[in-house]
Amino acid sequence: MKDLRPIGGRRRWIFVLPLAGLAWLTSGCGVIGGKIASTSDPAGDQARLIWDLFMVPVWWLTVAVFILVTGWLLVNIVRFRRKPGDTRIPPQVHGHPRLEIAWTLIPAVILALIAIPSTRLIFQLNRDPGADTNALRVQVIGHQWWWEFRYPEYGIVTAGDLHLVVDRPVVLTITSQDVIHSFWPPRLAGKVDAVPGRENTMVFTPEEAGVFYGQCAELCGAQHAHMQFRVVVQTQQEFDAWVQKHRQPAPDPAPGTLAATGKELFEGPAGCAGCHSVNPTYDPSTPINKTLMVGPNLAYFAERQTLAAFLPNTVENLHQWIANSEQVKPYSIMAEKWWKIRAQQNQLLTDEQVNAIVEYLRSQQ
Ligand code: CUA
Repeated sequence: MKDLRPIGGRRRWIFVLPLAGLAWLTSGCGVIGGKIASTSDPAGDQARLIWDLFMVPVWWLTVAVFILVTGWLLVNIVRFRRKPGDTRIPPQVHGHPRLEIAWTLIPAVILALIAIPSTRLIFQLNRDPGADTNALRVQVIGHQWWWEFRYPEYGIVTAGDLHLVVDRPVVLTITSQDVIHSFWPPRLAGKVDAVPGRENTMVFTPEEAGVFYGQCAELCGAQHAHMQFRVVVQTQQEFDAWVQKHRQPAPDPAPGTLAATGKELFEGPAGCAGCHSVNPTYDPSTPINKTLMVGPNLAYFAERQTLAAFLPNTVENLHQWIANSEQVKPYSIMAEKWWKIRAQQNQLLTDEQVNAIVEYLRSQQ
């Protein structure tokens, strides 16, 4: 005979523990890398419209459904609870066409109600990228595992940090050089896939100045979680100054300094220059699908928020990344095609050499 005792005692933990664990895990989701990544605190028009749609009608409809369903459930649990000594079997019902039609129709109607504003918003968000003549235009290129940003209007290229202007619309042309990625700055806008051979667009207006967290939102390999970026939203004046700086060639360290030694290593025996450029400018007629360099452009590296597409840009982290690429970001090109090969050939950089390169990159500001 089936065991009809209510679940209690130790067995209750089978249900409670995983739920508690899930709650604990997801409670960390809002804050990543010290920056709030929550969609519930929008700082761009697109993120705000999506959030508003979620709150009205989706949120209040689900609240109503939740109260109705659990309320009815609780009423029945209390009213029809088996009393001590009652061994009767309740009436066995099979099939109830009216009830079944009702619980099929009601959810269908609710979904249809949600679909109307959702569909309208989808069209609204996919507004014509040509409509904003004042818009800033940026090309976004996904790589395993970092983001490249090209500004064809200014002929400058950067990586990791996307610089935008507050209250100025931006048209992003998004593609990928290898596998499918997804570009997602949660507080500013929704997600758009970065697909090799395709150019998708995203149009939005940042409404708040500051630094915003971004994340690749499509599983793209071993380091997908470490394919982050930052959006630096500035005033027009600050942005213009940033552009002006990036049109100047990379600063040259003073002769005889540690940074100068680092530059020699970077360009020569350490082999960094084989994949990385420190030149901030490029030929703006370059097609979006043409690779400029294998690795991220490192022009004015010291001003970046992050390195290796996830770590805070500090001296310690930079040192670790160069000295121990394999441990910091396994399977990355830097780990596989540079660190491991040098390790095999017994040519890993000495601590002194790493210090010099760190000093050189820190001088790029
Ligand atoms: Cu790129 Cu996940």
